[in-house]
Amino acid sequence: MKTSRRDFLIGTSTVAGSTLVVPFSALAAQKTPRKAAKKKAEGEEDVSTNEDLMREHGVLNRVLLIYDEAMRRIQANEKFDPAVLTKAAGIIKSFIEDYHEKLEEDHIFPRFEQSGSKLTELTVNLRAQHAVGRKLTEKIAATAKSGDTKALNSALAAFNRMYRPHEAREDTVLFPALHSVVSKHEYDAMGEEFERIERKTFGGDGFDMAVDQVTELEKQFDIYDISKFTPDAV
Ligand SMILES: [Fe+2]
Ligand SMILES: [Fe+2]
Repeated sequence: MKTSRRDFLIGTSTVAGSTLVVPFSALAAQKTPRKAAKKKAEGEEDVSTNEDLMREHGVLNRVLLIYDEAMRRIQANEKFDPAVLTKAAGIIKSFIEDYHEKLEEDHIFPRFEQSGSKLTELTVNLRAQHAVGRKLTEKIAATAKSGDTKALNSALAAFNRMYRPHEAREDTVLFPALHSVVSKHEYDAMGEEFERIERKTFGGDGFDMAVDQVTELEKQFDIYDISKFTPDAV
């Protein structure tokens, strides 16, 4: 473990560093075998650009499951601790909106937009959905606090309905196509740069911290045991 994990993301409004497209070709050229050896010696994982983005979607998906459970409880008139939702919305804000989506907006989407790719139409829609998602997260946090369960349910439903196709399209269409708009060197350098931004933003491995936090919330909502999702009979 590189730094304290607890309560790192929740309730903070960390902002990822750069707002510009980093010249990855220049970074790739600077990458030396010595640096790679040092990295291995420090025990850091080598996570590729797409693996990095896709596993962040895994965290997003686990929050969607928490939102699903909240909607189920609202509709069944079952009690739940609204603080779980406030914290889940906090993970979305700090880890997904202010970090993951910022990486996409600053480093991934411009690669397609600047190369005149036919996927630009998709990135325009994805950007618009990020903006709507931020408003929905504010609404989820506010209604969880105020206890307006009808408005909360409607914001949760809108969020989940939008983000499932959003991340599925990124995983299956946009991210795989990244290889066609950047060179292998640039792709590798992007992975390095993402790692640097992650450490700068969270003071350590932000992904591990987010997984720990979402795990804790799943336990509080009694949905952590994965066997609960297996149907009784098939
Ligand atoms: Fe996105
Ligand atoms: Fe994404």
